[in-house]
Amino acid sequence: MDPATLVDLNRYPIDRLDDAAGQALLARARADLDGRALALLPGFLRPEAIAAMVAEAEPLEAGAHRRERERTAYGWMDNRGFPDGHPRRALHTLRGGSITRDMIPPEGPTAMLYAWPPLVDFVRRALGHETLDPCADPWLALEFHIEAEGDRFGWHYDTNDGVVSLLLRAPDEGGQFEYVPFIRDEDDENYDEVARVFAGSSTLVQRPAMAPGTFILFRGRRSIHRVSPVVRTRRPRPIALLSYDRNPGMVFPEATVRAVFNPSSEPHFGSHS
Ligand SMILES: [Fe+2]
Repeated sequence: MDPATLVDLNRYPIDRLDDAAGQALLARARADLDGRALALLPGFLRPEAIAAMVAEAEPLEAGAHRRERERTAYGWMDNRGFPDGHPRRALHTLRGGSITRDMIPPEGPTAMLYAWPPLVDFVRRALGHETLDPCADPWLALEFHIEAEGDRFGWHYDTNDGVVSLLLRAPDEGGQFEYVPFIRDEDDENYDEVARVFAGSSTLVQRPAMAPGTFILFRGRRSIHRVSPVVRTRRPRPIALLSYDRNPGMVFPEATVRAVFNPSSEPHFGSHS
């Protein structure tokens, strides 16, 4: 499997970033990330690549880790002590399936593309980092999220700098990615606007159209976002999530990994657990 065959390199020359066309692609991605926290490359995956990645994900769906829980949008902070109705107290449903890296064939198209040096370098340069590597996490570095009818990924922020998603199939109705670019910064949580987002009355919510095969690079640390409930779909919505980090060898906190696995199927954390 040559990852170069998966990507429309005529349209998106990520293997030639120092050519004029590559420079223009990088400049556009950076401008989109700076301006609206989101860079979309429609048609990034060739149709055969979409088919190959769907064919990889589908047989694994039956073994996906299903989870359903309520959480605040502010998981990295202590949210005790806020009054009822405050955005820090509001709970949002996370319900869906996860196919983790240990289940995904290492020689298959998704894992090969994830680690393909031109892709890693494109993401690194688009985000403006000196270094960037695929995460070393054996479970969450690479995932397929699977959303069936009724599933949703409630309002939240990400705690990392950038995430790559590859949409493989759109649901028939619902399952829309929604976000507000740069609603918060490190000094101002902008709770009034966040409350309007939660109430459905904000005029700032963006709902970008995304077709299967779209490459999605998103900065979610300051941009609240969700996937709206999947209302109706004949087949679950699979999306590949590719995690990178500036620090080589990055693994997710044990609590983050545990939250994905059912208690009965938790991975074995080293020799002491
Ligand atoms: Fe997120």
